[in-house]
Amino acid sequence: PVGVVETDVLVVGSGPAGSAAALFLSHLGIPNIMITKYRWTANTPRAHITNQRAMEIFRDLGIEDQVLADATDHALVGDTVFCTSIAGEEIGRIRTWGTSPAREADYQLASPCLTVDIPQTYLEPILVRNATVRGTQARFSTEYLSHTQDAEGVDVRVLDRLTGSEYTIRARYLIGADGARSKVAADIDLPYQGRMDIAGSMNITFKADIEPYVGHRPSVLYWVVQPGSNVGGIGAGLVRMVRPWNEWLIVWGYDIDDEPPTVDEAAAQQIVRNLLGMPELEVEITGTSLWGNNEMYATHLQNGRVFCAGDAIHRHPPSNGLGSNTSVQDSYNLVWKLAAVLRGQADPSLLDTYSVERAPVAERIVKRANKSSREFVDIFVALGITGARSEAEMIEQIEERKANTPEGAAKRAALVRAMELKNYEFNAHGVELGQFYRSSAIVSDGSEPPEPVRDPDLYYQASTVPGSHLPHAWVGDNKRRLAMMDLAPYDRFTLITGVAGEAWAAAADKVAHELGVPLTTVVIGPGREVTDLYYDWAKLREVEESGALLVRPDKHIAWRSGSLPADAERELHDALASVLGRN
Ligand code: FDA
Repeated sequence: PVGVVETDVLVVGSGPAGSAAALFLSHLGIPNIMITKYRWTANTPRAHITNQRAMEIFRDLGIEDQVLADATDHALVGDTVFCTSIAGEEIGRIRTWGTSPAREADYQLASPCLTVDIPQTYLEPILVRNATVRGTQARFSTEYLSHTQDAEGVDVRVLDRLTGSEYTIRARYLIGADGARSKVAADIDLPYQGRMDIAGSMNITFKADIEPYVGHRPSVLYWVVQPGSNVGGIGAGLVRMVRPWNEWLIVWGYDIDDEPPTVDEAAAQQIVRNLLGMPELEVEITGTSLWGNNEMYATHLQNGRVFCAGDAIHRHPPSNGLGSNTSVQDSYNLVWKLAAVLRGQADPSLLDTYSVERAPVAERIVKRANKSSREFVDIFVALGITGARSEAEMIEQIEERKANTPEGAAKRAALVRAMELKNYEFNAHGVELGQFYRSSAIVSDGSEPPEPVRDPDLYYQASTVPGSHLPHAWVGDNKRRLAMMDLAPYDRFTLITGVAGEAWAAAADKVAHELGVPLTTVVIGPGREVTDLYYDWAKLREVEESGALLVRPDKHIAWRSGSLPADAERELHDALASVLGRN
């Protein structure tokens, strides 16, 4: 009918979850429309820490170089400082995001990419541009109003905010990536655990060149302990680098039970000067906003043909830098499944595994981020300032850590422990990378992931037990060096084997043909597609050289075979059919 626009997938939202979903859909050739309420992407820097898994996804999509070009390099993100103000005394530092010599190896062994800093204001345009270039119809100033679904699709009412006119978009599937106040999630009545607005925060963006105070201790985050910094907020006052070293964002808390504060120019200037410890400094305030801290996650992510992703399903403080990363990763999990179902390669039941696989991730990151935010209190307790009644008393308490007295010694020892605890916020490699899926899109071989030998929040442990992420190793030949993930691109399933498993290739070709599913075999070994350059892969694969790993488009291992079986074709067929819900 006239006035109805049709597409395969409608994405609501152009944040990290929505713009990434649109990019993935277009990359896979699935017709899609992305609508977003405002005239352009995020207007404040917000998310910035971009972890290894998110960078791997950008690498997979061929946009890693574009992201790196706009990002602050890994080498500059790590000397996180705790101080009484930027110009004031330093309480201590922690090397963050895997920049410590003691942790750098863990990070480099786990991924071809390193954590970088790219503010949302820079990342979203890259995602939107690449999505649009590859086929997405992007509609700005277009608001989602409501939807109804039937057996074949979803009718979505949208408002063109420029003309004030409403129209209907008919899509086979709808993705609600409309953020922490998601209307799509409310309309499908997703079940949630937890609470919204548990603490109040304000963001103040400003420009000021403070290179002399920070350039020698380069970091993204400078945490400020001073009167008021343990009220509301995200654990302490924060001066966050947006661009080194002249654009900044301050996060400062307020009591959520009080009237929301008025942050006018004078108030913003005062807060900036206090946190910088530079009472005379002229700064250019570029924006202010208030926002609430949340501790809430959805326990189910889908209703029929409607799915939610990103902050719509996990709402938490920025601690651990997980928000935008997890949002991109949600969409990465969902979109290849939608593509497989839309192409008739998978049974629609495959789509149910999105919720089964990602809801536990949402719960884990919401709990971790909130715990990290609360654990700041240990620093306040160590300094003895939680009960301080005046600024003078607070300063006196902070001073006491210098004293050559038993009290001073006790404070110094407590600070060692409190700082150590912050590794759970800033070097939580296991939380960042250690996602393990259990669902019908994973065919178990009866094995369980290995017992963690180190703290599973802090340390990532590679494994090929089905459900794990494909371990990283460098492979290649005399001309190129590739990461293992490069062998298994997003547009297909990949079977990885060794020279003794060469017979898998013919089996896989037949299975791909029988099931009508793109499946490529890669044989690793001398004289084959790639060589195990450093002999690392042989130690990581956990199967015999003749065994095989079946890798999903999102790099999780769907199935493995310890060695070459008598009937490789049948076993592979059964496994892949099972993953696709076709058995
Ligand atoms: P997001 O909120 O970004 O986007 C929602 C989209 O939906 C927008 O495009 C909006 O226009 C659209 N929309 C909403 N309603 C609509 C409607 N009815 N119709 C049409 N469109 C609609 N994360 C991280 O990983 N690392 C970090 O360091 C930080 N740091 C950080 C600092 C601060 C101060 C904040 C406030 C947040 C962070 N985060 C973060 C969190 C991060 O900003 C957040 O997790 C992501 O933006 C979530 O991405 P989404 O795409 O899910 O939602």
